[in-house]
Amino acid sequence: MEKQSILYSYGFDKETKTSKHNIFKNYLSRKSIFKNKEFLLSSFIPDEILHRDKEIMEISSIIAPSLRGYKPNNIFIYGGVGTGKTICIKKVLEQLNEISLQNKSNIKTIYINCKMKRVADTEYRLLAQLLNEVGVLVPDTGLPTDVLYKKFFNEIDKKKQIILIVLDEIDALIRKVGDEFLYNLIRINSELNNTKISVIGITNDLTFTNYLDARIKSSLGEEEIIFHPYNAMQLRDILKQRAKEAFNKNTIKINIINKCAAIAAQEHGDARRALDLLRVAGEIAERENSSEILEKHVNIAEEKIELDTIIETIRSLPKQSQAILYAIINNKSENKISTKEVFSEYKKICLKNNLRVLTQRRVSDLINELDILGIIDTKVISKGRYGRTREISLLITNDILDNAKKILIPIFE
Ligand SMILES: Nc1ncnc2c1ncn2[C@@H]1O[C@H](COP(=O)(O)OP(=O)(O)OP(=O)(O)O)[C@@H](O)[C@H]1O
Ligand SMILES: [Mg+2]
Repeated sequence: MEKQSILYSYGFDKETKTSKHNIFKNYLSRKSIFKNKEFLLSSFIPDEILHRDKEIMEISSIIAPSLRGYKPNNIFIYGGVGTGKTICIKKVLEQLNEISLQNKSNIKTIYINCKMKRVADTEYRLLAQLLNEVGVLVPDTGLPTDVLYKKFFNEIDKKKQIILIVLDEIDALIRKVGDEFLYNLIRINSELNNTKISVIGITNDLTFTNYLDARIKSSLGEEEIIFHPYNAMQLRDILKQRAKEAFNKNTIKINIINKCAAIAAQEHGDARRALDLLRVAGEIAERENSSEILEKHVNIAEEKIELDTIIETIRSLPKQSQAILYAIINNKSENKISTKEVFSEYKKICLKNNLRVLTQRRVSDLINELDILGIIDTKVISKGRYGRTREISLLITNDILDNAKKILIPIFE
């Protein structure tokens, strides 16, 4: 839809005399598609978590002994994006806290999302956060970390208790601060007299375990729980449950929910993606002044989300990968280019921008990563007796290409 027609559908038509009518009147007089959009946000935790009974039972049976004062095994939870890991653990912690309060059990639960800025980006901040959780305030900077460790362990050992520390998105933590922190946390149990610590690590990225010391890997993985992707039927139930609360009556039919569920199931079985699709489709329908969400709104929503995701991926690439992508984009001569051509263009970009030139081998690895991210496609082709070479082509639409240039040109030109 053109921008102009969106404006008119809001009631900003040419005839409106702004002096006579309030320009927002039409907007308010219309029935909204949404009853309460918050139910579609990914931060929302529904009362009932669907299709995860098995996983919730598994986690709760491992940590239940804490109610009788025993240290539960450490748990490692793994599963793809949007498979419900975070909401399940939050639900389990909520219920554990509730019952331990009734039961007067000495259990303390600490949940930390390691991707949160200013929480777990340095060992210092992470320790400060843990100390904060047990009621000890420390300055933002300045103390040696071993002092912080000591303070934390002294504080928690003052009384007999079990402490469950959930490190959600633990891969981000390991990448930023290494694995020593985990090692200290797990090892300390043997030195504490009263308190026992159990760690629950959650991730959607298994590759980070390559960076883990073997001992840490095995103690963190005392228990392993895997969250599998949702299928279309499960996603449909999840969407139905949320749609009931989120939309006004008669604004959405079951075929729309099925469509969103099917699209998300085909991708990664990701409930967040399915909910986003439904929300964005609703927003588009509302903007178009439609009284209900139609299939075409879901199609537009799908494109918009894909565009936003790829743009965000490009924006957050490391600078070296951005330089390589820019080298590929810059090669206007043909659709397909070879690694060698990319490398020579890349070198020029580096020199112009005072960027360290990586080896061709490293560049080749980074090209592979761009392929995995779905931004480019690479094919190995045989050149007969001249050996083999890789052909690289861009996988992104012109729309995305324009946006990518808007991001990269200011960085490299
Ligand atoms: N079984 C479910 N029932 C209801 N809502 C769900 C369910 N699973 C996921 N959701 C919803 O989907 C969204 C994503 O779930 P969640 O944040 O738990 O995923 P995750 O596995 O932690 O993903 P990530 O690896 O990206 O952190 C949330 O909005 C959550 O409310
Ligand atoms: Mg999560």
